[in-house]
Amino acid sequence: MTQKVSIVGMGYVGLCTAVVFTKNGYKLVAVDENQERIDLVNNGISPFHEPDLEQLLQESINNDCLECTSDIDYAILNTDITFLTVGTPTNSDGSIDLKAIKKVATQIGETLAKKDGYHLVVVKSTVVPGTTENVVKPIIEKNSGKTCGPDFGLCMNPEFLSEGSAVEDAFKPYRVVIGEYDKKSGEILEDLYQEIYPESSENKVTIKRTTLPTAELIKYANNGFQATKISYINTIANVCQKIPNADVTAIADVMGLDPVISPKFLGAGIGYGGSCFPKDIRAFITFCKSLEYNPIMLKATHEVNEKQAYNVIEIAKRQLKNLKGKKFAILGLAFKPNTDDMRGARSTVIIKKLLEEGSIVTAYDPQAISNAKRDIGDKITYAPSAMECIKDCDCCILVTEWDEFQKLTAEDFMKQTKQPFLIDGRRTFKPQDFNSKIIFAAIGLGQKNNCGQ
Ligand code: UGA
Repeated sequence: MTQKVSIVGMGYVGLCTAVVFTKNGYKLVAVDENQERIDLVNNGISPFHEPDLEQLLQESINNDCLECTSDIDYAILNTDITFLTVGTPTNSDGSIDLKAIKKVATQIGETLAKKDGYHLVVVKSTVVPGTTENVVKPIIEKNSGKTCGPDFGLCMNPEFLSEGSAVEDAFKPYRVVIGEYDKKSGEILEDLYQEIYPESSENKVTIKRTTLPTAELIKYANNGFQATKISYINTIANVCQKIPNADVTAIADVMGLDPVISPKFLGAGIGYGGSCFPKDIRAFITFCKSLEYNPIMLKATHEVNEKQAYNVIEIAKRQLKNLKGKKFAILGLAFKPNTDDMRGARSTVIIKKLLEEGSIVTAYDPQAISNAKRDIGDKITYAPSAMECIKDCDCCILVTEWDEFQKLTAEDFMKQTKQPFLIDGRRTFKPQDFNSKIIFAAIGLGQKNNCGQ
């Protein structure tokens, strides 16, 4: 533990990275500009729902390993390596918004002007190729009066954690990518990671060292591929819906047996949401255009996804004809299970459309209701349980595949509503358990009675 570490930005990536360091015995300085978040972290409370995070956070606070502050000066002056994990949202034209990165780079530069000795800056936020070298480096150099290389080091180290399993992913990454400005920067970061993920550990982590733009691009290439896999299987699902007795889940199961393909990200449904895929695909497309390259494939991935959420509305319309005044039960609001995150959630797209059609919407989610209230407000009703949610509905749409929804049976629907109609937007239910008992439809299910298809 020769190096002292600080992390700027206490979102998912920052906080999950922080607990990996503290669990490994590091004393870490965490920085955030949001005082409410700082207070939560210092009290060992996770600002968002993420399995195992709060327990590790509490441990870190109790062991005096973590302090969170808004004072970036203090963090830089008292540590040797600083990770940047601030958000990189999208601008309205789809391009990446680097405001937070630029602000932090400026502050780091200003502090480095006062600091003697070498400091390593590591960009962990997702940024388009060229950002670390052409945006972060000149800002730090200008504000510090120092030179990247001899005076301070610079790396780009993309993060691959997935919400819902973020802590596990942070502790056991498949790989660590280090984009380095120069050999010295890369070596320092590699040594740090060797300490965290030692050679002898049962899950040996592959550490790949490369150039800054390659590291930046690896992140987009990875997310772009995963998103494309989802849009591909959704394309197959949409074809299945037009063919009686075709079923996308059986197709995906067999495709997944092919080691070239693998079963992951072949879950057909209402499309991808979240804080990463939608913004990263758009930013990647805009970035390609800036290079005068037309990324046809990424555009198709995005276009399929933009339309996919409306698939369940079309199914509902075929069965109910007019949606005006019809009561809809929405099961699941979060963009995926095991999180309370509503960013980019498909639920908001579906609910917005239903409200435009004049429908009445009741929704339930095990974790995301308070975040949903902030985003959607009182235009819909929030139910305290799944059973309450489906009561008297004309149609229920399963939007997020939380485990607890799998317990729902056809009998539950028959008990709660006169003419039960269930649309499975995530292929959670077994069609044979519902088909003969209630009106059942699902994405990628081409049975004859899939609501007139
Ligand atoms: C994603 C990637 O999976 C991570 O590898 C990456 O590090 C992260 O983005 C990031 O860039 O930080 P995350 O957004 O947390 O992670 O969630 P995913 O599990 O990838 O799910 C994204 C969306 O795709 C969800 O709405 C999910 O429901 C949907 N999805 C996922 C499908 O529709 N089908 C699938 O088969 C898998």
